[in-house]
Amino acid sequence: MRLIVVKDYDEMSKAAAKEMAAVVNSNPKAILGLATGGTPEGMYKELIRMNKAGEIDFKDVTSVNLDEYVGLGGDHPQSYRYFMNNHLLDHINIDKSRTFVPNGLAEDVNEEGRKYDQMIDDLGGIDMQLLGVGTNGHIAFNEPDGELVAGTHLTGLTKSTIESNSRYFDSEDDVPKTAVTMGLGQIMKSKKILLIASGENKAEAMKELFSGKISTSCPVTMLQMHKDVTVILDEAAASLLK
Ligand code: GLP
Repeated sequence: MRLIVVKDYDEMSKAAAKEMAAVVNSNPKAILGLATGGTPEGMYKELIRMNKAGEIDFKDVTSVNLDEYVGLGGDHPQSYRYFMNNHLLDHINIDKSRTFVPNGLAEDVNEEGRKYDQMIDDLGGIDMQLLGVGTNGHIAFNEPDGELVAGTHLTGLTKSTIESNSRYFDSEDDVPKTAVTMGLGQIMKSKKILLIASGENKAEAMKELFSGKISTSCPVTMLQMHKDVTVILDEAAASLLK
């Protein structure tokens, strides 16, 4: 794993945008795996700026997102489709018909997940997958558990994830308890992985990532088995690394 430690959130965002721009500039038809959460917001702002400045062209790019809440349609302000449109896709020159987010309203979520995986495979796979990380080490919505699922699937959310994501909802009760998420198998098939984390509350998960041990009880540790991972951390997120 390539580790880059920078001073703060702003520098992390800029460094991450640069990594993604390098992929698109060398392959204008890149398939980008995108993520939601507070962490990538600054990076998306920087990508919008770069796009407007002519430093990156999304015209022929395809995007596929990691996950979505079950029960929220794309017009729900807390849905991940809404987040993506609002924070990136509506502000860059991407063809919106080639931007994909798992469907949280599907009748059979697991069947929808199989189709999603097939679509990604048919596209030729993800060139770069962006990841944030949960404080408990979850990636996308692959929560700590005794076993992890390979493909895109229906999953329950842990209490700690519901609690931390409740900051975006009126109350904790409003946070959906289930989601559809890309599985670890699909994430690990990505040609490159870019993981970003900022803040002290991510330091423990980052310590696990660099511990040399792999455990389903901390899903992010799986990334140690991938050949091309870049991790960009601010000093606070890197504070427990030796
Ligand atoms: C959610 C998302 C994850 C994200 C995580 C961390 O649970 N499903 O993809 O990495 O939150 O979010 P944040 O970046 O806001 O800390």
